[in-house]
Amino acid sequence: IQVSAFDLVVFGGTGDLAARKLLPAMFQRDRAGQLPDAGRIIGVSRRPLGDEGYLDFVRTSLRDHVKAADLEPEALARFLARIHFLPVDVTGETGWAELAALLASGADHVRAFYFAVSPDLFAPISQRIKQFGLVTPKSRVVVEKPLGKDGESAREVNAAVACVFEESQVFRIDHYLGKETVQNLMALRFANRMFEPLWNSTHIDHIQITVAEDIGVGERGGYYDTSGAVRDMVQNHILQLLCLTAMEPPDAFEADSVRDEKLKVLKALKCINDRNAEHCTVRGQYRSGSVNGQPTPGYLLDISKEESDTETFVAIRAEIANWRWAGVPFFLRTGKRLGGRTSEIVVNFRPISHSIFDHTAGRISQNRLVIRLQPDEGMTLEVMIKDPGPGGMRLRSIPLDMSFAETFGVSNPDAYERLLMDVIRGNQTLFMRHDEVAAAWRWVDPILAAWSNTAQRVHHYAAGTWGPSASVALIERDGRTWLEDSE
Ligand code: BG6
Repeated sequence: IQVSAFDLVVFGGTGDLAARKLLPAMFQRDRAGQLPDAGRIIGVSRRPLGDEGYLDFVRTSLRDHVKAADLEPEALARFLARIHFLPVDVTGETGWAELAALLASGADHVRAFYFAVSPDLFAPISQRIKQFGLVTPKSRVVVEKPLGKDGESAREVNAAVACVFEESQVFRIDHYLGKETVQNLMALRFANRMFEPLWNSTHIDHIQITVAEDIGVGERGGYYDTSGAVRDMVQNHILQLLCLTAMEPPDAFEADSVRDEKLKVLKALKCINDRNAEHCTVRGQYRSGSVNGQPTPGYLLDISKEESDTETFVAIRAEIANWRWAGVPFFLRTGKRLGGRTSEIVVNFRPISHSIFDHTAGRISQNRLVIRLQPDEGMTLEVMIKDPGPGGMRLRSIPLDMSFAETFGVSNPDAYERLLMDVIRGNQTLFMRHDEVAAAWRWVDPILAAWSNTAQRVHHYAAGTWGPSASVALIERDGRTWLEDSE
């Protein structure tokens, strides 16, 4: 279904996010016939490019980030016809009158301002948008992380935007929420009868959430070294996954119902601070090693520094203090330059209460549901069966396996495709509300403070492994093992 007429104004229009994600996503939606004729994309940047110069930028971005087979000449021509460019000094006066004039020619369009720029520019840009009277009832603003580096700075960023836009106009992107398999978590939990009755501490032993990357910090060393894995991945993506896994059923698949339930989970997270951080968290940093058979340098070389105690890996034992989850540990883990690129949620069920089989049947493994978010999207439910054959009752765990690629035969659209369409439609369900972001920081801030107060050490790990051995110790202290060690 086509979205309504829109103007998407991308501040940071010549930046990395626009090139890698926004332009390719809009191109794909255009190819799919979802964009109306009256849909414009207006790149804005300080760079003094003319229209032609910007069209070259867009062509290069698509060539680099869209499959060649998808770049049909007709589709490309239609997409390029939507593109406009304006050089605007976002902290000064230049270019704003021109932007206002261009937008005035689509006064009844949905108007989406995308802030694909550093957060210190959110306030000045918002102010200029207000000063030039660019906010209409159909306006929205999209902001990207990092939304602050702690609770305090997040509040400031939020306040700057809130001076100009209503909360119902603010779309805070967490691109994990746009991933098909992440949305599927809600389908799995709330469109099936069979999981929900078991989804609690009576039946679940523990849950693991892993977002592992094999890439290093690449060109982003400057940003990353001031951020680290907790700010970069846990405060947002991992906590969102935790929320969708743990929340109560919302009364409707509707923005505030879903966000109310996620917020309750964040509020119920048990505090990790100076007292227990050493016990509940492990920090790591990669050294040189080998990833997918290729030798790779260590973090310090990647960021061209002699020393740094920024974590590129973190493992956390979290607990949710509420009726459903009391006593069920959630082991959270993410890192760069790990043994592979895998994101998954592993739900480990408790053992059966009594076995009717004798020892000759073999060990009865606990049921396990593995939800693979990427790259091999799908899920596996491990169940016990009888080993076929006349040799008596021998039991074996086998996977009931579902792969999205095999079942549907199509590759998943990029998260930004879904999220950008939701912005234009005005649907906030897959976007974070300000109180969620604040609650996430309220849990994360004491962890960061504890690390600095107690000078908690950063363990080194060789690139291409699953993180420092302390991470294995963290889960094994609890009598559990990470998925890859239990297979
Ligand atoms: C970003 C982080 O938000 O997510 C990156 O800043 C990380 O450091 C990326 O690499 C991971 O996203 P994806 O979609 O590749 O899993």
